[in-house]
Parts: sequence; C-alpha cells; structure tokens
Amino acid sequence: QLPPPDHLPLVGRRAIITAGPTHEPIDPVRFLGNRSSGLQGYAIAGALSRLGANVTLISGPTSLEFPRGVNGARVETAEEMRSATLAALPADIVVCAAAVADWRVDHATNSKIKKQPGQSPPVLTLVPNPDILAEISAVGPERPRLVIGFAAETDDVEENAIAKRARKGCDWIVANDVSTGTNVMGGPQNRAILITEAGVERWPRMPKDELASRLAERIAEQFTDDAP
Ligand code: CTP
Ligand code: CA
Repeated sequence: QLPPPDHLPLVGRRAIITAGPTHEPIDPVRFLGNRSSGLQGYAIAGALSRLGANVTLISGPTSLEFPRGVNGARVETAEEMRSATLAALPADIVVCAAAVADWRVDHATNSKIKKQPGQSPPVLTLVPNPDILAEISAVGPERPRLVIGFAAETDDVEENAIAKRARKGCDWIVANDVSTGTNVMGGPQNRAILITEAGVERWPRMPKDELASRLAERIAEQFTDDAP
C-alpha cells in the first residue's frame, strides 16, 4: 500500500542531525580526519524533512549540498559540532550520524610546522573530544524524546553496538560493519543493524538513501498516536 501524498507524520517535530567527519587542526594546513562522506546523515536529514519534520543538519566538512528544505550549518571540529548541536536544542529527535574525531591535537599551532633538517618528526599529543551523543542523551529536562546514534564497528558489530547503546545512554543505535572491503565508509550502500530497547533488527544491505527513508519511517512510528 502506497503512503498518501500528504503522508507527513512528522509535521511539528524538530530534528537535529549531525553528519560527516570532523577535522581537527594540527596547524593551519593540516588536520586529523576520517573517511566519512556525510552521505548517510544527509540522506536521513532529507528523509525526515520529507516526512514533514523541521530539520537542522549540522555538518562537518563534506562535498555535499544540503538537502532541500533542511536548515544546514557547517562546522569543522568536534567542539564546534558540539556547540552547534546544543545550540539547536530543544528537539524531539536527534540523530548523531557524524563520524566525530575521538581525539584532537592538544595545541594546534598558528603557524605551519616546518621540517627542520636533521630533526626528528614532530610528536602530536592527542586529547579526547567531547562525546556529543552521550551529552545529548543525558541533557536533562530538555532531552529529546528519541536520541539515535550510529556505531561504526569492524569486529563483533552486534555485541559492540549493544554495549555502545548502554554506554552512551541513547535510545537506538544503528550499527554498521565498516571493515575494509564492506565499502560502507564513503560508499553508496550500507548494511545496518538497528538496536532498540525492544531488541535487534538486522536490515538487508541497501542504498544509503533507502536506509534513510526506512529509518525515517521507523522514527515516525514512534511519534504517531500523539499530537506534537
Ligand atoms: N559520537 C559523538 N561524539 C563523539 C564520538 C562519537 O557524538 N565524540 C557519536 C557518533 O556520532 C555515533 C556514536 O557516537 O553516533 C558512536 O560513535 P563511534 O565512533 O562508533 O563510538 P565511540 O564511542 O567513539 O567509540 P569507538 O570509536 O571507540 O568505537
Ligand atoms: Ca569514535
């Protein structure tokens, strides 16, 4: 059965999505980053918007255009992403799809680090970045009703994702196998395991935009039966 053309179950709901990588500066020309393309997060933002939600997309550096109808904001670092996400609260739904760098360089320099003949390479000291998903999950009276995280894993995907859901305090986890060879990171397809309070759902491999639509419909189900 096809949904009616006015299938807008998320009208009146606010959603915040984080997407893409973060870049952590080393000096003005270098950074630490990761292979996230932002595709999955952007697709989720678009899918929620198409269901009527008011969507804010907080994006790390990507080559993608913001989906139609979405309020987009660009950030570089994990700390900027954290501030922008907290500033966008309150919301009903938060989806943390960003591949936030776990660490940043403790003191990025304002001038370019130069090679010094005869000297050994620089040693970078890393410090942990704030955990945006954990913070949003514990935000108190303003806590969004549905907080969803992703889990990028290369081993023991299900066990690690279940443990991650508990550790982060979020409601759902969408777990992906990102081992080399799966081509999930940066690729067009994804295979997800959805972990909720009710248990584990193994979804088939599908394009990232299809996964986004399916997740958006699943989110909408949580918000039916009661007015905004
Ligand atoms: N996340 C976040 N802020 C961070 C790190 C992660 O918001 N500083 C979010 C991601 O957006 C994702 C979830 O937490 O939704 C899990 O990210 P992941 O990298 O899989 O988990 P980590 O807790 O960082 O653990 P590890 O990388 O060691 O597996
Ligand atoms: Ca991580």
